[in-house]
Amino acid sequence: MNERDSEAVASLLRARGYAMVEDEAQADIVLLNTCAVRDLAEQKAIGKAAYLNKRKRHNPRFLVGVLGCMAQNRGVDLLDRLPDLDLLVGTQKFHRVPDYLDNLLATQNGQGPRPKTLVDLDAEEGSQNEIRGHDSVDNAPQISAYVSIMQGCNMHCTFCIVPKTRGEERSRPMEEIVREAEELVAHGTREITLLGQIVTSYGRREFPMAGGKSPFVQLLERLHALPGLLRLRFTSPHPGGFKTDLIDAHRDLPKLGEYVHLPVQSGSDKILRAMNRPYTRDSYRRLVEKLRAAQPKLWFSTDIIVGFPGETDEDFAATRELFEEVGFEMAYLFKYSTRTGTPAAEMPDQIPADVAEARHKELMMILEKRSLARHRELIGTTQEVLAQEPAKRPAGRLLGRTRGYRKVFFDAPARLLGELVDVRITGATVAALAGEVVGKDDA
Ligand code: 5AD
Repeated sequence: MNERDSEAVASLLRARGYAMVEDEAQADIVLLNTCAVRDLAEQKAIGKAAYLNKRKRHNPRFLVGVLGCMAQNRGVDLLDRLPDLDLLVGTQKFHRVPDYLDNLLATQNGQGPRPKTLVDLDAEEGSQNEIRGHDSVDNAPQISAYVSIMQGCNMHCTFCIVPKTRGEERSRPMEEIVREAEELVAHGTREITLLGQIVTSYGRREFPMAGGKSPFVQLLERLHALPGLLRLRFTSPHPGGFKTDLIDAHRDLPKLGEYVHLPVQSGSDKILRAMNRPYTRDSYRRLVEKLRAAQPKLWFSTDIIVGFPGETDEDFAATRELFEEVGFEMAYLFKYSTRTGTPAAEMPDQIPADVAEARHKELMMILEKRSLARHRELIGTTQEVLAQEPAKRPAGRLLGRTRGYRKVFFDAPARLLGELVDVRITGATVAALAGEVVGKDDA
């Protein structure tokens, strides 16, 4: 989501005549788009901003801005830590950044006291519709593009800062999203990833059900029908959003591929309740089974938090057991991070860091074993791979993704970018696959 927001800001800035530079040292302006989900992300952003601000000693015209979730979360208190900041812009004001920079540059004379920090952290009605511009550098097509469909989240998981940083759920009109997707496809996009803090809730307040289908599934069907679009993905979903219509979609819409991200957070019913996650270990398990019944080839990934307040050894054992039982091919494993202002921050029995660390390691090892085993099973098979981008090295290699969303590196000419290529898998690591193109005599 943050990448997408940054890209939209970059696109607006380019349109306004600003130019991106490759090297940070060459920049006259640096904008940091920030995350607030865990404390570590905030600390990194603060450290980076402080480091950048030092450059002003040599160049008083150098501008630094902090945008996004940390700006929204910490507000003007951030200026105690970063008094030299020029710009502080929240999550509903990304589209205003070009105006603010123009203003800052217009008032800048390099002499006298520095103007006060320009701050805009307000909510703005309709701001979900402003994340539109796509930044295609040198007109190269974005083979895989993000499309923001909604902003905010009303679920109020007790650990999560997002309701504060992103606000209430607000969805973009379906017609606008479809139009944006059509334009992208016309410019060469072959894969679209729909984005939102809780995409499965798309339009649930704004738009009616139709034929038993939620607005989100209606949107998936509309986009799936676009000729030229090869793959359609979405993130982040909530397990509660997987009703029959969305489960069936994984059977009926082949462009969804064979991959589902299903954040479970914990395998203990007690902890799930404390997290305000409205499902149980058993209902989650049943959901996985239903999805596998709808699409037997699915690969699963998840999010897990270890060390949530009150997590006993038994609670963690329940998580580990579920984790092994489902057999996720991929997972984002997090140590609980206290977010001031969330209900969990006030809960008793906060877990010591070393305990969380040990639990995290344990899951990490299970995950690595499982990922490697599943990747190795693919050796010798032929996979349909979307060729997405040139690999960083060596030259001549491309990077693509299987239908299960696994990374594959393979030698192929650049003209295959954007195409579905049959690749025979020849090697596997925990993180990726290697292979060679089959069936294209001329490749
Ligand atoms: N501490 C640790 N992890 C968190 N996440 C969200 N909030 C926190 C927190 N306070 C994780 C969840 C979520 C993912 C995006 O980040 O697993 O699904």
